[in-house]
Amino acid sequence: MIEVFHHYPLKEHNTFGISAFAKAYTSIITLQQLKEALAYFHGSDKFLLGGGSNMLILNDIEKPVLHINLTGIERIRANGNLVQLKVAAGENWHKLVLYCVENNLAGIENLALIPGNTGTAPIQNIGAYGVELKDVFVSCEVMDLESGMKRTLTAAECNFGYRDSVFKNEALGKYVITSVTLELTDLNETSDYDLKINYGAIKEEMERLDGEASIAKVAQAVINIRSSKLPDPKVIGNSGSFFKNPVIEKGKYQDLLQSFPDMPSYAVNEGHVKIPAGWLIDQSGFKGKRYGDAGIHDKQALVLVNHGNATGNEILNVAKEIQKMVKTTYGILIETEVNLIEN
Ligand code: EPU
Repeated sequence: MIEVFHHYPLKEHNTFGISAFAKAYTSIITLQQLKEALAYFHGSDKFLLGGGSNMLILNDIEKPVLHINLTGIERIRANGNLVQLKVAAGENWHKLVLYCVENNLAGIENLALIPGNTGTAPIQNIGAYGVELKDVFVSCEVMDLESGMKRTLTAAECNFGYRDSVFKNEALGKYVITSVTLELTDLNETSDYDLKINYGAIKEEMERLDGEASIAKVAQAVINIRSSKLPDPKVIGNSGSFFKNPVIEKGKYQDLLQSFPDMPSYAVNEGHVKIPAGWLIDQSGFKGKRYGDAGIHDKQALVLVNHGNATGNEILNVAKEIQKMVKTTYGILIETEVNLIEN
């Protein structure tokens, strides 16, 4: 049985805390309910809601909203030192990280405190501190929104890139992800595992913490760093990085260095570098600015925030101003990382 609610408030279901309504809304806690909902709303486009952590809602949502709240973590295979976990789409990502740390399963500790659910993690191939979901991803189960048929997609079929996957491209709007299978190193069986601590401030933060180096310590270091720079959505509405870090040609970067000798970069490949969008925005003077209730976080310029009652469009206007300024100053287009939801 599914229960459908009309004019359902979404403010609590998007981490930006935008007040908007769903014309029709249903919460899905079983695969059977998912099938029923697909049949019930057959013929109309659906809006899939997970943790609501990577979206900016611009208007009320006309499409039926299916809130994917499937839960369960299953150990499906243990092969020597490796364990595969099949995680239902509605499981909170950070809770999964904590579960893995508690159970001595290594691989996602660097991804602590990323908001959102496990089922939406593949869509933008979540990443932080030198690790991306694709590093531990085996496959995901999906249901075709049209036919209701189940399918398994392998890592290769997901075609992961930097904050990118097939789900943002060819398969956009085609499937609902129902579970994700990850392969992790079982530290109860082996100690042969390299902690990834060379990215950013992890090493320094770990030195400040007591005890031996461990996945728990890495997770704690990431939690500390993230909490010091990124606003807690429960306190102040936000969606993490609002923009992607732009990738530009090396030649263009060399030219820019003439005028902006301090511009940082990360190597991408022989011909390209990635520029931290946070730096570009910060240099353009936006950090901590506020326009009504829409603004830019005071500790990380890449994060746009809702100080209370900003509308999606007010936040989008700030984003457009930022994009314009960065384009004018550096000739670089910074693209949004957050999904803009029109209706
Ligand atoms: N910087 C500034 N001012 C700022 C922010 C950044 O000057 O206000 C400069 C600094 O030089 C800093 C550099 O930009 O060294 C990079 O900043 P930082 O390491 O804080 O993060 P980032 O590279 O901008 C990316 C991800 C984050 C992820 C961190 C850590 C993107 C768009 N963002 O940010 O992901 O947590 O690296 O790995 O790739 C997210 O996707 O929501 C997210 C938070």
